[in-house]
Amino acid sequence: MQRPIQDLREWLARADQIGELVRVAQPVDPDEEMSAITYLLAKKQPSPAVLFEQPAGANALGARMLWNLAGPSLKRTAISLEEAPDTPTVELIRRVKEKFKTRIPPREVTRAEAPVYEHTITGRDIDLTTLPIPRHWPLDGGKYAGTGDAVITKDPDNGYLNVGTYRMMLQGTSQVGLYLSPGKDALLHIQRSWQKGEPIHVAAAWGIDPLFMLVGSQKFPKDISEYEYAGGVKGEPIPVVRGTTTDLLIPANAELVIEGTIDVNSTKAEGPFGEFTGYYGKPEAAAPLVDVTAIHYRSNPIITNALMADYPSCEQSGFFAVLRAARIWNDIEKLGVPGIMGVYSHPAAAGGFGMTIVSLEQKYPGHAAQVLALAAQVPGGAYFGKFIIAVDEDVDPTDTDQVIWALSTRCNPVDAIEILRNTWSTGLDPAQNPPEKRLYGSKALINACKEHRHLKTFSKRSLLRKSVYDKVAARWKDLGLPGTAPGVAAYEPEP
Ligand SMILES: Cc1cc2nc3c(=O)[nH]c(=O)nc-3n(C[C@H](O)[C@H](O)[C@H](O)COP(=O)(O)O)c2cc1C
Repeated sequence: MQRPIQDLREWLARADQIGELVRVAQPVDPDEEMSAITYLLAKKQPSPAVLFEQPAGANALGARMLWNLAGPSLKRTAISLEEAPDTPTVELIRRVKEKFKTRIPPREVTRAEAPVYEHTITGRDIDLTTLPIPRHWPLDGGKYAGTGDAVITKDPDNGYLNVGTYRMMLQGTSQVGLYLSPGKDALLHIQRSWQKGEPIHVAAAWGIDPLFMLVGSQKFPKDISEYEYAGGVKGEPIPVVRGTTTDLLIPANAELVIEGTIDVNSTKAEGPFGEFTGYYGKPEAAAPLVDVTAIHYRSNPIITNALMADYPSCEQSGFFAVLRAARIWNDIEKLGVPGIMGVYSHPAAAGGFGMTIVSLEQKYPGHAAQVLALAAQVPGGAYFGKFIIAVDEDVDPTDTDQVIWALSTRCNPVDAIEILRNTWSTGLDPAQNPPEKRLYGSKALINACKEHRHLKTFSKRSLLRKSVYDKVAARWKDLGLPGTAPGVAAYEPEP
């Protein structure tokens, strides 16, 4: 077994091994050009990660810029999660569901052992304007560093370290704005520190192993550090090191970390920003302002960038399809509901948020309706999710064609669609107007399972016999047919 990925450089080597990394040696402008290339590249299949080795313009630290990290690639999502790149989707989701049950606390290393301390800049020598910080979209309010990042804050009451993926907008030579939507853990930490009349420390890894973005963007319990979940996924503790100008523990193997302080009530206008919905988000508004006190970095640091856009160019779509689904599956399983065969958060549905598909083996009357209601409202699935679809066990929830077939042949809209109203939504859903309405949403629960009342007499599906499938699959190559025989989800029982 390969040892777990230790840092972004090892992650890049793995992406390269599977043929999913492109290095661009020619100068490319961080102002809208890198994001444009990423937007277009994400539409190709396969869609590689892209490392811009020569950002055009100021680049005092010799930084390189990585985009389309996991992107729409299931393979890069799998390697980021320490799984084989060709793991089938439902199996990958099942494994992640199990991995999230294990937590391993981080391991503190000395400063001498921490690659991120190769170079340090502090005080007046800090000039963020000499970094190739990109502008993603033409109407963005500024340039954004730290989009595919890990932001660390400490709970002022119980001392646990939150690791969250949040964007940071350049606000001058040594200041950045930290955008946090209501209820986010870092915002709660900041607000409670301010209530005590105290400034708060913050650190942000702007270049890091993408696992941190995958884990940092999930909603975990408020009193458990994401460092522990990242350790659980890796199967070993995450090495962390004490900051030099803050009391935080920062990822020791990161490429580039900033440390800073947010003074009491210190904010500055930030935004708008092209969001995961594929639309610009909220208009410019006040966001906590970070005074940067130190920059630590490895030689030629690699900065990790996450484009938010329509599918498939939205960085979070591909990995949310797996991680959000794993959380929902875990939540339903914890409640003791039997028969769940797979869960999928469709990546095309606005960053993986908009649609949940659950496949189940119907075991009793009302089972599908119960699963629909739960998948819609468990903590892992309640935010935004607008369309929840239940399918039988012979339908692969990750195969859009099969799901649409089930909708068309097993769902009678007049009987099979329920609406939940006044549910948890987001100010970013453009479908609700005027915008003040947006925090309360609605959800359609769509039962595309065979009607339980008529299960025994439901029209018989035409299926291949397993013995025949095996025979033709074995001869596939000899017969001169392309590739290998595709798998099928169900067979006609042998007589
Ligand atoms: C690439 C990416 C960028 C994100 N940027 C932000 C952001 O700027 N502000 C924010 O509040 N949430 C952002 N999110 C969502 C949060 O990461 C997510 O809600 C996470 O659960 C927050 O962590 P917390 O639960 O510890 O607060 C982003 C997610 C991704 C994948």
